[in-house]
Amino acid sequence: MNSKIEAILAKKGIAPVSELTAYDYPTARLVDEAGVDMILVGDSLGMMMLGFPDTTHVTLEHMLHHTAAVVRAAKNALVIADMPIHTYETPEQALQTARALMATGADAVKLEGGAAKEEHIRAIVQAGIPVQGHIGLLPQKVKEEGGYRMHGKTDEEAAAMMRDMEAVVRAGAFSVVIECTRHSVAAEITKACPIVTIGIGAGRGTCDGEVAVFHDLVGGFPWFVPGFAKPRADIAADITRAVKEYIADVQKPTE
Ligand code: KIV
Repeated sequence: MNSKIEAILAKKGIAPVSELTAYDYPTARLVDEAGVDMILVGDSLGMMMLGFPDTTHVTLEHMLHHTAAVVRAAKNALVIADMPIHTYETPEQALQTARALMATGADAVKLEGGAAKEEHIRAIVQAGIPVQGHIGLLPQKVKEEGGYRMHGKTDEEAAAMMRDMEAVVRAGAFSVVIECTRHSVAAEITKACPIVTIGIGAGRGTCDGEVAVFHDLVGGFPWFVPGFAKPRADIAADITRAVKEYIADVQKPTE
């Protein structure tokens, strides 16, 4: 097993695991040098980098381009490449997509879906490629679901999520993201889960670790900030100030 994956698994129940998105060289280098455990080249790059309304417009070409840039920057963190919508419809296609992403130098891939994707995950893992699963809110299903909503709110939904986790584990994934899920449900799933759970919008301390979208963390995308985001900087305001100062400087008459 990849030693970076072993190090992540060894943290289960001992130390929280940190994961952050990055989509380009300078951001990935800063995030890596700051010491994050895992960098996710998420398909959220569709919104954060490319100006699409959601992740359903992201293609494999976009992911290959951005993953390669992140791989060039990351020296220590485990780099996970997200598999975009419509690139893992069958187990065979899933393996082909995973291989293409791994060819950029990524350490692992992530795909959305639990029980419905068990065979797809198994095909990738059996080829020696580490997989991070993703259950709860699945952003690639935003159109089918008519928006983003909290998952695990009813007993039936919570039980279905538990089955999703079990399927991801059976298929051989090393980790699973639990997105936008009732906090008590995320905690129950984590307790029953032998692999590393990573929460986002699933409550503080309910999972083995947390993932955040980089732009939410640093205030880099002021036009939409999810309710659960905790910005720790305001780089949008800093950029605006620097650009305004530059414009004023350029416009100043020369002596
Ligand atoms: O694409 C992404 O950034 C993600 C995280 C929200 C987990 O999938």
